[in-house]
Amino acid sequence: MHTKIIQKTLILGTGGTIAGWAQDTSNPEKYEAGQLGLTNLLASSGISLNQLELQDIAQIDSKNMVPTVWKKLLNAVEQAQNRPDIQAIVVTHGTDTLEETAFLLHAMGPWIKPVVLTCAMQPANSLTADGPGNLRDALLLAQTPGIPSVSVVCAQRVHDPMCLQKIRTDQDDAFDSGPSGVLGRMHQGQWQPAKPAKAFTGPKPALAALLASDWPRIEWVVHHAGSTGQVVRALHSPGQPPLHGLIVAATGAGSVSREFEDALTQVRQEGVAVWVSSRCVWGQAHFHEPKTWGEATTLNPAKALVALALALLSTEKA
Ligand code: SIN
Repeated sequence: MHTKIIQKTLILGTGGTIAGWAQDTSNPEKYEAGQLGLTNLLASSGISLNQLELQDIAQIDSKNMVPTVWKKLLNAVEQAQNRPDIQAIVVTHGTDTLEETAFLLHAMGPWIKPVVLTCAMQPANSLTADGPGNLRDALLLAQTPGIPSVSVVCAQRVHDPMCLQKIRTDQDDAFDSGPSGVLGRMHQGQWQPAKPAKAFTGPKPALAALLASDWPRIEWVVHHAGSTGQVVRALHSPGQPPLHGLIVAATGAGSVSREFEDALTQVRQEGVAVWVSSRCVWGQAHFHEPKTWGEATTLNPAKALVALALALLSTEKA
């Protein structure tokens, strides 16, 4: 006799505003993120627990996201891939660093069982909370055959981790995918695909190697009018922990002042990997000829930070 395996969706909770709570519901802007574990979050959203399994990975404001939490999350996603009773994974996350986490999950895929991230801009007990709708859409999307390996659902739009950016602080529809456009939409709970996801083609370590490694120290510096490069030198000075990489959010298509170039050339000669991105919201950094002071990346700074970590981890000696 065969026992039928009931397939479930695994929800991995990390915190964020979707799990946030306001002391006073008449003043929902004053709230703490990451207050509810998944059991309470689901109870407050009115979503039935039927065919769901809940696992709290962390309960943080995503400004406090760190590589140890990323490793725990990647490990949980990996374990779920090998379980016959799990069909798909939904991750609840704060909006502030969702871009980095979604990119990391995407880069370390593709996963056979899809991963859908979701979030909210209003706390769970706001009278107009957007979390329950987003979570419901994420669960419905996760149960739809043929969806991308990793996607992000927010305000009925489904974003590609290669493209999305948080661009608003004041609306439920906080993300945009720029000129590339969204992967699709959730319309009344139905998935309406628009375009395929972009692949990550950069170097990366095997998952087991990533989980066993120390995350490299990579800092992100912004070039601006009046930049002297002192911040670059300060980050790589005696008494600081070793610096492995630098992401430069350069002006325009990758320009920095002469002083800034000199500082970057110096740290690069001392072994620091320097990737040059752009501080412009859309478009990419690009160089017409090689530079002594850095390598252009097509990724924006948040994604470049994760991609550089993966590149450094992929070349680490065993
Ligand atoms: C967070 O990122 O955890 C807080 C902000 C949000 O989720 O919108």
